[in-house]
Amino acid sequence: MGPTASAVEDAVAASPADGSALDVSGLRHRFGDLVAVDGLTLQVCAGEIVGLVGRNGAGKTTTMRAVMGILDPQHGAIRWCGHTVGPADRLRFGYMPEERGLYPQMRVFDQLVYFARLHGLDTRVARAEARDWLDRLGLRGRELNKLVALSHGNQQRVQFAVALVHRPDLLVLDEAFAGLDPAAVDVLSDVLRGEARRGAATLFSSHQLDVVERLCDRIVILEQGKVLAEGTLADLRAQAPRRLRVKVDTATDWTAGLSAVRVARRDADGVVLALEPEADTQAILRAALAAGPVEHFAVESGRLIDLYRSLVAS
Ligand SMILES: Nc1ncnc2c1ncn2[C@@H]1O[C@H](COP(=O)(O)OP(=O)(O)OP(=O)(O)O)[C@@H](O)[C@H]1O
Ligand SMILES: [Mg+2]
Repeated sequence: MGPTASAVEDAVAASPADGSALDVSGLRHRFGDLVAVDGLTLQVCAGEIVGLVGRNGAGKTTTMRAVMGILDPQHGAIRWCGHTVGPADRLRFGYMPEERGLYPQMRVFDQLVYFARLHGLDTRVARAEARDWLDRLGLRGRELNKLVALSHGNQQRVQFAVALVHRPDLLVLDEAFAGLDPAAVDVLSDVLRGEARRGAATLFSSHQLDVVERLCDRIVILEQGKVLAEGTLADLRAQAPRRLRVKVDTATDWTAGLSAVRVARRDADGVVLALEPEADTQAILRAALAAGPVEHFAVESGRLIDLYRSLVAS
């Protein structure tokens, strides 16, 4: 059951012309007066890891629940390989819910076998896969422990194994790495890259933007239930205004006369300036020097965290 190139080819062959395996279009859902998801459209291709990011309440979990059929959205379509997604498709999905969903008093090994059986594996295969995943995720020796006896991080690993044990075609992982130590994040990231090579499509929500940057092929930024920006890191860099951090040792507001510049933030480390394309950084430097000693002057990096801050108004 190892990763094969033909699994990727099969999944791609079953996908619609644009290559997407999961196709969410025009998704809209409200809770009372609150619009949680507002016309959201996104695709995930076979073999692709898509990062879903956005502030608390942006609509990530609601979107994932709709994909998994836990929530029946009021508008929009969810397609899998070109057809409306149904229960049989969802047996081939793996889900790590935000609220987690394991049995605290059940033994780790039994738990994995149970969920593998629920997804259609026969007992022999389920047991073999359960053993394999516990080994791969560093849980050998914990098979007979009740879940509740494991540390938080190890419980997370078990939940991760449950999502993967039936080798799903689509992985929907809601904050899968929250609370994990850096070594565990690396191990689980490698596992996800392996699953992507096998052909799995992955939708991965996280607030750990450094992890998203390293792991995801594409990033979708949600804001108030809508897609604010999406693309590869390079695409996002092209969409985000350049930003400059400047610290001048002065009590005066030296930024007032600058053109094509907006003050995005002021803090103890100076100001962050959002630059229009025509902004002249040398003119900004001259204005800063005229105001007082310049202690810091640097264009912000193109890291996801900076792009996110620049795109998502704080
Ligand atoms: N069952 C519910 N009943 C009422 N409102 C809800 C329900 N579930 C979600 N909401 C609201 O819908 C909005 C979107 O919530 P959602 O959980 O999808 O956000 P999120 O992006 O996953 O946030 P977080 O980063 O905090 O997990 C929020 O305003 C939330 O309060
Ligand atoms: Mg959430």
